Amino acid sequence: MKAAVSSMQESSQQDHEFLNDVLRGLAGDQKTLPCKYLYDELGSQLFEKICDVDDYYLTRTEAKIFNQYLPDIAEEVGPGALLVEPGAGNCEKVEGLLHLLKSPSGYYPIDISPEILYLAGQRIKKGLPHISIWPEVGDFTQAEVWDNLSNIESKKRVVFFPGSTIGNFEPDRAEQLLETFAANLRAGDGLLIGTDLVKDSVVLERAYHDSEHITEQFNKNLLQRINSELGGNFDLSSFSHRAFYQPLRQRVEMHLVSLRDQRVAIAGEQIVFLEGETIHTENSHKYKVSSFNTLLMKGGFKPVRHWTDSSESYAIHYAQAI
Ligand code: TRP
Repeated sequence: MKAAVSSMQESSQQDHEFLNDVLRGLAGDQKTLPCKYLYDELGSQLFEKICDVDDYYLTRTEAKIFNQYLPDIAEEVGPGALLVEPGAGNCEKVEGLLHLLKSPSGYYPIDISPEILYLAGQRIKKGLPHISIWPEVGDFTQAEVWDNLSNIESKKRVVFFPGSTIGNFEPDRAEQLLETFAANLRAGDGLLIGTDLVKDSVVLERAYHDSEHITEQFNKNLLQRINSELGGNFDLSSFSHRAFYQPLRQRVEMHLVSLRDQRVAIAGEQIVFLEGETIHTENSHKYKVSSFNTLLMKGGFKPVRHWTDSSESYAIHYAQAI
């Protein structure tokens, strides 16, 4: 896989971008760090572990809906589809669907972590040797990772975006992302997308502050990454993980809280933290089916149908590009 081999030049460019993003994020009044940097190799592995954690109901609820309605969903996707999966990670969620689709044109996974994508590609080739795979390493919000799509023939393109990843974007960004999807689809092409639904805040908060502390490790891995890749000196034990539901914005926010006044050095820059000050690392927006339909329409899609679990905790939506 060509994309797994990144040249020295590319990787120093990436370090530069990482450093700029980190310094910019930590310079504001509310310190932030872009969530895409959570997903290096270790981060991606920790995220896979989160998906198996009891308190994290999202992955298994989504899987349950998929299993229950798979024939229905495959029917909606239709024959000859090319499945495009932004942020595919280990590509586990797509397999059931790929098995059931009628004569699919192939699978185009996009992910920021080349290691995870490479392993997943190998596994899928074994289980589904007749399916063509075009892996793409990169940030799926950037136009260039979508460019190769135009070289692949297919009756229909369907963007597969499970995991409530759309919820990790602020509403206006989510709309832009849907527009990016729509820009790479033709009229009548599809979008199969999962969203976590608004629910009791205790359940929500437990999902993002699990009793096994995996989410905490995942969040703190970002600081570890800054230490090892950018020569930072974060003391990980001086920060703690915090997750809380903000009902007005219908989102769970994740932060790293500084446990004392402290200074951190990153590439020669000093960053001051007061005790109790936080770095905002991630949001996970929750939707109602109706509010998500509105978002779909703003992003260039016509909502077609959706499937939920019996307690309406999570939804999978199918929409058509217009
Ligand atoms: N899409 C997932 C979600 O919003 C991503 C996620 C799960 C996540 N747990 C996390 C992101 C913890 C950051 C930190 O639920």
